Amino acid sequence: MKAEASPNIAFIKYWGKLPFTRDEDRNLGTNPSLSLTLSQAKTETQVVRSHGPRTEFILNGSPASDADTAKVIAHLERVASTLGKELGTFRVESRNNFPAGAGIASSASAFAALTLAALGEMLGLQGALEYCWQNPQMVGALARRGSGSACRSLAGPFTEWNGTFARRLDCVWPLRDTILMISKKHKAVPSSDGHKLAQSSPLFLPRLARVPGRLAEVHKALTDKNLSALGPLLETEANELHEIARTGTPGVDYALPETRLVLNELARMPQRDFYFTLDAGPNVHLISERPIREDAERMLRKLGLDVEIWEDHAGVGPTLEGHPISC
Ligand code: PMV
Repeated sequence: MKAEASPNIAFIKYWGKLPFTRDEDRNLGTNPSLSLTLSQAKTETQVVRSHGPRTEFILNGSPASDADTAKVIAHLERVASTLGKELGTFRVESRNNFPAGAGIASSASAFAALTLAALGEMLGLQGALEYCWQNPQMVGALARRGSGSACRSLAGPFTEWNGTFARRLDCVWPLRDTILMISKKHKAVPSSDGHKLAQSSPLFLPRLARVPGRLAEVHKALTDKNLSALGPLLETEANELHEIARTGTPGVDYALPETRLVLNELARMPQRDFYFTLDAGPNVHLISERPIREDAERMLRKLGLDVEIWEDHAGVGPTLEGHPISC
């Protein structure tokens, strides 16, 4: 069974996890988060029952590493045990149409697509569609146990994750995300380690106290479709995430010199109608209502930077065999 899902970019970041002892409590954020689901970047994942001795995982056309294969098998086990099914073996093939490490969280789309494709293969198409319809929270919790932010990729354009699963917000606003791919290399410190280190920063607890107020402001900006109110909140969130990473023990600097050049240039632009956000990486996401590729190219030329651009925009969530799913 084949599923497609897109990554999401967080407006309010998930940064820090609660401790857990049971797999059911894996990847619970220390704070609620809210994101925009994209549409052009996609992970396509096919899960097919096999008669082989073990589950195989093919990633972007090549056999995946043992570590990645183990994560996929652990996830298939979660889905099977939630459904009360025997596991068996599978051939899992997954492909991204965007470069890994491009500052687009591939783990979110990967685990959203894997969860749906596995449900499809284990329950049949009709059974899986009904399951998603009747148990959206369970599907969200399964995806989240694979990778926290994956639960926010199960619907769109905006989802809020608070507790064990995410829910779609009642807001349609065709925002764009123009991504300046400053580096396509995998980040040196994976976000799983970043979540742990975050808690050692003196800025972590003060931020937690600020999140509810900021979340309420983001909700209001979304309801009003007010980009000039939303934008500064996005930028503060992005700066805080990077500050927390820098001031943890040990500190991690996710920005590159080119990232700082771009951020300084943006700070010098007096009247912008696009705003930046950052993930745990060096690439800059520019959020806007209108296409801004030309503005971005002009800025990069001025800074003498040769950087690829990925243009994306709001999406409505994943599909299973072409059927829209919204959990
Ligand atoms: O889901 P993870 O473990 O890859 O964590 C994602 C963390 C950030 O991308 C930095 C922020 C977020 O909310 O997506």
